[in-house]
Amino acid sequence: MNGHMPPASDEDDRPRTVEPSPHGAFVVRAADGSSGIRLSLVIPTYNEAKNIGELVQRLTALLEEPLGAAYELIVVDDDSPDRTWELAGALTASYPRLRVVRREQERGLSTAVIRGWQAARGDVLGVIDADLQHPPEVTLALWREMDRGADLAAASRHVEGGGVSNWSPVRRLLSRGAQLFGLLLLPNVVGRVTDPMSGYFMVRRSAIVGAPMNPLGYKILIEVLGRGKIRWIAEVPYVFRERIEGESKVTWRLYVEYLRHLLRLRLSRLPVERFIRFAIVGSSGVVVDMGLLYLLSDPHALAWGLTRSKIVAAEAAILSNFLWNDVWTFGDIARSQRDVRSKFVRFLKFQLICLSGLVINTALLNLQFNFLAMNRYIANLVAIGIVTAWNFWLNMKLSWRVTVVKEDAPLALLDKTDDGVDPARTPR
Ligand code: GDD
Ligand code: MN
Repeated sequence: MNGHMPPASDEDDRPRTVEPSPHGAFVVRAADGSSGIRLSLVIPTYNEAKNIGELVQRLTALLEEPLGAAYELIVVDDDSPDRTWELAGALTASYPRLRVVRREQERGLSTAVIRGWQAARGDVLGVIDADLQHPPEVTLALWREMDRGADLAAASRHVEGGGVSNWSPVRRLLSRGAQLFGLLLLPNVVGRVTDPMSGYFMVRRSAIVGAPMNPLGYKILIEVLGRGKIRWIAEVPYVFRERIEGESKVTWRLYVEYLRHLLRLRLSRLPVERFIRFAIVGSSGVVVDMGLLYLLSDPHALAWGLTRSKIVAAEAAILSNFLWNDVWTFGDIARSQRDVRSKFVRFLKFQLICLSGLVINTALLNLQFNFLAMNRYIANLVAIGIVTAWNFWLNMKLSWRVTVVKEDAPLALLDKTDDGVDPARTPR
């Protein structure tokens, strides 16, 4: 033991034993801030009895000087057969900043980390593996970035100075392949960092407070990026070391869990609510279209020619749909660009996209009716469904696209649909 050891049982006399695990929804709540803890570093463990002592000693030696009593280390052990929880519990006697949580009902790295963050008292929440493959010294570099104001600081193997010690080509391929797959499915999440598979990072509590998390497997960083409100991201290099003691718990099952996790996150980020609004507005447009077509072309009404009536009716429906979408469906975005010029540009784009939709609709109808011998009404419904999704996606990406992001823009603008503009990359 070196000279950096903090005096045992200095300020509070909490019994230094193993704590029960928080339970319920995986939601991190606001901390009351009375503890004075700034950094809570969670160490998920499963059969790490051979590693935990050295890790706690080295982290304490590193953090005691810059943080004094303002940090805590929280081991979250899933009832390891090698009784890591017991050994760590014993360590709390000589390490007053150390807490140990034992989970007996739950299992899994990512959920262990969130339980640790739920038990934590700090404003900054971190995670580090227990097997010393994550060099403890990098914790200081991560902390410096958080202290500078980053919302998230991640240790990366893929930035200058980063790397892995000696990974087999297969493991490199698998890791990069997994990253690539993540980029395809969730570009605006996985693409925000160079090492989305990293299990070594710190996040500001305020960036994930109240966000319902639902991770699977190992990739807690992707979950935080996908569910949190993260603007400013900092990355520091690290070299992923070889494990000396114990085994990696990575199995094929984890790769399947990773894919399921990506799909789950992808679905949760689909703008379902916005799409429902768009569809409701679209149906109101059908009423406008039909109503006007009757008033203009019906022999008992104005008896105009069918084509002329159809064009006026369709145009009126497009205009009405635009106005309702601008006020309701995309109101949160439109309100940040109220000037007439932007509104007119949005209308023009909406008009063009709806017209392209009309062309696709007619083509799809003919394709199904003439080539697939489908019933014309079912074919029409299918065409309307496909074109509604097309119109929705293009209008969300082009017409109600966030072009100018003001610094104080509500974070909702960065919500689920990710309009491609990423102010988070521009440091404050
Ligand atoms: N509580 C708990 N429950 N901890 C677990 C569990 C679990 O079910 N499974 C693993 N752990 C702990 C381990 O004890 C270790 O401290 C840490 O999580 C990482 O587990 P490893 O099995 O050593 O993972 P790895 O080294 O193969 O992969 C690590 O590096 C990858 C590359 O950065 C992890 O950090 C991965 O998340 C990361 O992608
Ligand atoms: Mn490991």
